[in-house]
Amino acid sequence: MPETVLLKGVRRYGEGEPVDVLAAEGVIAEIAQGITPPEGADVIDAEGHVLLPGFVDLHTHLREPGREDTETVATGSAAAALGGYTAVFAMANTDPVADTAVVVEHVRRAGEAAGLVDVHPVGAVTVGLKGEKLAELGTMAESAARVRMFSDDGLCVHDPLIMRRALEYSRALGAVIAQHAEEPRLTVGAQAHEGTQAARLGLAGWPASAEESIVARDCILAAHAAARLHICHVSASGTVDVLRWAKQRGTQVSAEVTPHHLLLTHDRLDTYDPVNKVNPPLRTGADAKTLREALAEGVVDCVATDHAPHAEQDKDCEWQAARPGMLGLQTALSIVAETMVRPGLLTWRDVARVMSERPAEIARLADQGRPIAEGEPATLTLVDPDARWTVRGAEFASIAANTPYEGMELPARVTATLLRGRVIARDGRIR
Ligand code: DOR
Repeated sequence: MPETVLLKGVRRYGEGEPVDVLAAEGVIAEIAQGITPPEGADVIDAEGHVLLPGFVDLHTHLREPGREDTETVATGSAAAALGGYTAVFAMANTDPVADTAVVVEHVRRAGEAAGLVDVHPVGAVTVGLKGEKLAELGTMAESAARVRMFSDDGLCVHDPLIMRRALEYSRALGAVIAQHAEEPRLTVGAQAHEGTQAARLGLAGWPASAEESIVARDCILAAHAAARLHICHVSASGTVDVLRWAKQRGTQVSAEVTPHHLLLTHDRLDTYDPVNKVNPPLRTGADAKTLREALAEGVVDCVATDHAPHAEQDKDCEWQAARPGMLGLQTALSIVAETMVRPGLLTWRDVARVMSERPAEIARLADQGRPIAEGEPATLTLVDPDARWTVRGAEFASIAANTPYEGMELPARVTATLLRGRVIARDGRIR
């Protein structure tokens, strides 16, 4: 039987008077004050909670196939739903790489079987992520997985001719290329943001120019191809200048920032704890400030988690040997609240934009990031803006536990996630 759910006393986008929202048959059936619960309805008392459209994550590593010891499509979907997400894009750097219809269809089916969030497989741009030969983008686009985002994330599509061709094909397919902007010649052996901190710690420097130069190049290539380009995990303030320039001249470029690049800086590296190792690296406080302002201004379009689960043996080891990446799905909303909402850079209305509406637009998802209005899909996230909670990686739904926020007290908490009218997560549990 389809669920009927009544959300009592919510503030849409954190604005206006509290209202009741009735979800039935997968859509928002009614928004009014004092709705009488229909018989058998699941009533959620959400006095003072903020109601937002379900979050969309353009950048998630679900590790299936290949590293199911760290995450699976099912466990990652649970983490996503608990974090308020209703759709995620699963990156292609799996083993085998998601560079064929077989692999992307597997990921898609696993997402459907889990049934917690919409899992959209990202297809690799090049065969085996090797950067040498274009993958069969058209076959993946036409497969049952309907791939519309391609990325070699983890690695950069560094050959300009291959990037040009990828952009041209993606345009014809109505798809977007998501670039991991890292000129590999500039980051050979790089371990930490190039600057005084890396020098002091004796870690090889990772220059901001490795990111900025690829973003500049690709904005030019995208403009000439009249194609859509998305920049993954912007980390450097110089990249924001390039994006502003490209957007001003009409280039179809969008960009994401991760929660960790909004909050954390290379000062965290003092302990050499590899939980702070990530690609691109944590940079300076000035970079983080510029990223926060760019997100508020819209030069950086959206927040994406780059949720990157890793096994203990790949993180609890010496810095150089550790893999880059950190968990993000279950902490993203709180980090955005801490870095953007509390300082007044974003309202909750804006949070809906950067965590749901813009990512849905970039990925061209028709049924996500929709207005909270009668007749629209009941794909929603409920947030308690006054909650405070302490991060415990071991309690996350992810198999891996590599969170840089361990023991931190954070503001705001997702209290319920609804996907097309079904309550998927509630009060920290999957239903
Ligand atoms: O830190 C990162 N980890 N950055 C990436 O681009 C890839 C990711 C991973 O797959 O672990």
